[in-house]
Amino acid sequence: MLTDRREFLKGAAALGLAAAGLRSETPGAHIEILPDEPIGTIAPEIYGHFIEHLGGVIYDGVWVGPESKIPNVGGIRSGVVDALKAIHAPVIRWPGGCFADSYDWRDGVGAEADRKPRTDFWGGTEPNIFGTQEFLRFCDLTGAKPYLAANVRGLGAHAFDLWIEYCNSPAGSTEGARARGASGHPEPYDVRYWGVGNESWGCGGNFTPEEYATEFRRFTAWVPEYGKQLSLVASGPSDRDVAWTRELLHALAEKDTIGAAAGLSLHYYTWNLSGGRTNDWDQGKGDALNFSEFEWYELLSQGSVMDTLIRDHWAVMAESDPHHHIKLFVDEWGAWYRSGTELEPKTKYRLSQMLTLRDALLTGLTLDIFQRHADKVAMANAAQLINCLHSLMLAREDQFVLTPVYHAFRMYMPHMGARAVRTEFAASPVTYQRNGGAASLWGLAGSASVGGGNVTLTVVNPHATKAVEAEIVLRGGTLTGGRGEVLTSTDLHAHNDFQHPDAVHPERVAVNVSGGRLVHRFPPASVTALYLPMG
Ligand code: AHR
Repeated sequence: MLTDRREFLKGAAALGLAAAGLRSETPGAHIEILPDEPIGTIAPEIYGHFIEHLGGVIYDGVWVGPESKIPNVGGIRSGVVDALKAIHAPVIRWPGGCFADSYDWRDGVGAEADRKPRTDFWGGTEPNIFGTQEFLRFCDLTGAKPYLAANVRGLGAHAFDLWIEYCNSPAGSTEGARARGASGHPEPYDVRYWGVGNESWGCGGNFTPEEYATEFRRFTAWVPEYGKQLSLVASGPSDRDVAWTRELLHALAEKDTIGAAAGLSLHYYTWNLSGGRTNDWDQGKGDALNFSEFEWYELLSQGSVMDTLIRDHWAVMAESDPHHHIKLFVDEWGAWYRSGTELEPKTKYRLSQMLTLRDALLTGLTLDIFQRHADKVAMANAAQLINCLHSLMLAREDQFVLTPVYHAFRMYMPHMGARAVRTEFAASPVTYQRNGGAASLWGLAGSASVGGGNVTLTVVNPHATKAVEAEIVLRGGTLTGGRGEVLTSTDLHAHNDFQHPDAVHPERVAVNVSGGRLVHRFPPASVTALYLPMG
C-alpha cells in the first residue's frame, strides 16, 4: 500500500565512489555577477534553525540539565550554544513541528515541581523540563530570535493570547508577567515571530484550507501586542500543494484578512530518491550513507525543486495578495533519509541520521535558491538543528560533532543581510543514468551578494567526478583577487562522526586574477565560497 508523509506522521503519533583518479577538466564555464540588478536584501533569518521535542533533539541534544558533567549553561549544552554563536544563528523555531499542536505551554513553565509530564505527539512522555523559559534562555545565550509555534489543533485562541502575554507583557503588568518574573525574567522577552499552527493540513488538525482560514482569523483577530508589531505566520503548504496556498489566501482575502499574516510557511523535504519509480513515503527514500552515484545526483536534483516551489507558490499567492504583503517562511527544509543511520539507541534518537558531503551540497544549493529569491523568502529553518534530519550537529551524552551541513552554513555567512544580485551561470549540464534513461542536472549553480564593498559568490559543483573551470566576471566592475573556502572530499560519502569529527571541513583556496581575468576551478562534488573585494 502506498504511504505518504502525512500517513507516516499519523502513524508516528557504497557504493565507493572515490573521485581520486577520475578527475578531469571541463573548461568553458562562465559566471557573471550583475551588481546593478539587485534582487533584495538577504534576510539573515533564512539561515534559521528549528528544534522540536522529538527523539534526541531537545533532551541530550540542546538540554543536558544543570547537574550534568557535560559542559552546560544552566542545563543547556555549551557546545550547541558556542556553535550557534559562531554562525550568528538568527532565529530558532520551537517547539515543533507536529509536536506543537499537541503541546500546552502551561505545562512547561514555572518551578520544577509545577512541570507536568504529558504524552507527546511522537508517542513518548514529554517531561516538560525544557519549556518556554528554557527555550528563551537558549535564544538569549545564542543571540537568536525566538519563533514560537502555537497549538491550533488542541488549544484555543485565548491560550495563544496568554502565551504572548507570558512572553511579552511589560514587567509586573499582568499575571503572565508575574509568572515570568517569578521564574527569574521580569523583563519581557519581546517574541516577535509566532507560527499559528503547524502543517494544519495534516498533523496540525487535518483542516481544509477554508477551515484553517477560520482558525487563523480566530487566532489573529486580536492578539496582545504591547506596542510591538508581531509577525504572525500562517500554516502553509507542503511541497507542490498550490491548492492549499490558493484556497487559504483566497479565504483570507474574502474576509479582508490578508494583512494579518506576515508569512506563509512552506515545508519541503528532499526524500524521494527513487528516480520517479514510486511516490511511496517508505519505498522512495534512500540511505543517508550507502548511496550510488545515481542517488547522489537524484538528491541534488530533488533538492533543486525548491526553486520551482518558491516560484509556483509565489505566483499563486499573487492571485489574492498582488502586492505580496505575505512572504514565504520555509520553516522546514532538508534531506530526509530512511531509517538505518540513527544514533544508538534508535528508539531514543528517533529520526536522527548521518549527514554527508552530499548534504552539504544540498545545503549550499538550497541557501543559494533562497538568496536568488531574496525578495520572496523572509525566513527559512533547516529541519532540524541537532540529532535529527538535516542536522548541523550530532550529540550523544558527552560526544559532540559538527556535520558538513554546519560547515556550509558557516561558509555562507557573509551573505546574511547583504544585497542579493542577479548572477548568471553558464556551464555544461551533468548527465546521468536515471533508471535506464538519461537525466540531466545543472552544471554549476549558486548566488552572489554585495555588501561592505565585497562580493560573496557561493557555487555548488554537483558533478561527482569532474572539476569545472569558470571565468568569473563582475559586470561594470573589476575583480582584483580575494579569498575563498571550499568544502569537498574525494569520497562522496565523507561525513563527520564522533570518531572522525574532522573528516569533512572547509579548506582555504586561492583566488587568482591573472591578465585581468579571474578564473576559478571548482572541484568535483564541492561547495565553494569566494569573498571578493569590488574594484
Ligand atoms: O521535522 C519532522 C516533522 O516533519 C515535523 O514534526 C513536521 O512538521 C514535519 O512533517
